[in-house]
Amino acid sequence: MIRIRYTLTLGVALLAAAAGAPAQTVLNVYSARHYQTDEAMYANFTKQTGIRINRLDGKEEELVERIKNEGASSPADVLITVDAARLEIADKAGLFQPVQSKTLEARIPASLRTPNWLAFSTRARLIVYNKGAVNADWVQSYEDLAEPRLKGQVCVRSGSHPYNLSLGAAMIAHNGEAKTEAWAKGLVANFARAPKGGDTDQLKAVAAGECGVAISNSYYLARLMRSTKAEDQQVVRALGVVWPNQKSWGTHINVSGAGVVKTAPNRDAAVKFLEYLASDEAQAYFADGNNEWPVVKSAQVKNPALDALGPFKADTLPIGQLATNTVQAQKVFDRAGWR
Ligand SMILES: [Fe+2]
Repeated sequence: MIRIRYTLTLGVALLAAAAGAPAQTVLNVYSARHYQTDEAMYANFTKQTGIRINRLDGKEEELVERIKNEGASSPADVLITVDAARLEIADKAGLFQPVQSKTLEARIPASLRTPNWLAFSTRARLIVYNKGAVNADWVQSYEDLAEPRLKGQVCVRSGSHPYNLSLGAAMIAHNGEAKTEAWAKGLVANFARAPKGGDTDQLKAVAAGECGVAISNSYYLARLMRSTKAEDQQVVRALGVVWPNQKSWGTHINVSGAGVVKTAPNRDAAVKFLEYLASDEAQAYFADGNNEWPVVKSAQVKNPALDALGPFKADTLPIGQLATNTVQAQKVFDRAGWR
């Protein structure tokens, strides 16, 4: 469902027109991220630049479809969405235009940007196991999850979900296509049940003993860790957490990202907004809103759940390469029968 949030923009624009004053720039931001802290972030951008924001919140796929359908007359200036696989789909559809900015180049690491879109926060794909049922030594890497000793133990969401496609894309980059396909086949052979639900459902299934081990994005776990509900705390207590592949290529990370829409009516303001998203202040809001890590090194985030999870070695694969491999990953998973 798409919700439109017109701030005071329309009223202000009408007043300006009536007074014969120049119309104020209004930036249209289509966002698949909508957290409480985002409100303050947008308000501060307006305070700093005088540029007002019309935000249109929607689901990732819906926003991409909407921009496609609106075509050349789309009011969209910026698209914010999650996951490299989805950003790649938007980019392949020709939705973005190249962004040139010294500020963005200086603040966002090269491996976390492409010519057409940039990452603004990162999340990790974790291995989570039932402390009472599975030996931690057996689940130290994604590759481990395909070992026959875990038969009937693995819970994971659909193989066609972008989060798993991005993981598959990273594995293809590191291990090659043939090994990744063999891995996917081994993983499918170890399933405790046919894939269903989201990552939180897998975490709960592991805690309940329905499966011994699962793969989940870090922010779903962090959300449960920060929850004050007794049942969530019980789930967290049952779980052991592994940063996968610390002895090899590092834990797979994915991103929330954004780009300037190709037909953006306010291109300069859109770039200014992306530069703002890379400021220390906005980075803290952006990352903390969804329990993610900022991409800008100097940004400080105080997040008790992420602090508790501690530091880890992340995969350094350029996000652009990850994105391009996702198409191949889907074919590999299809052949392996990971539905
Ligand atoms: Fe998610």
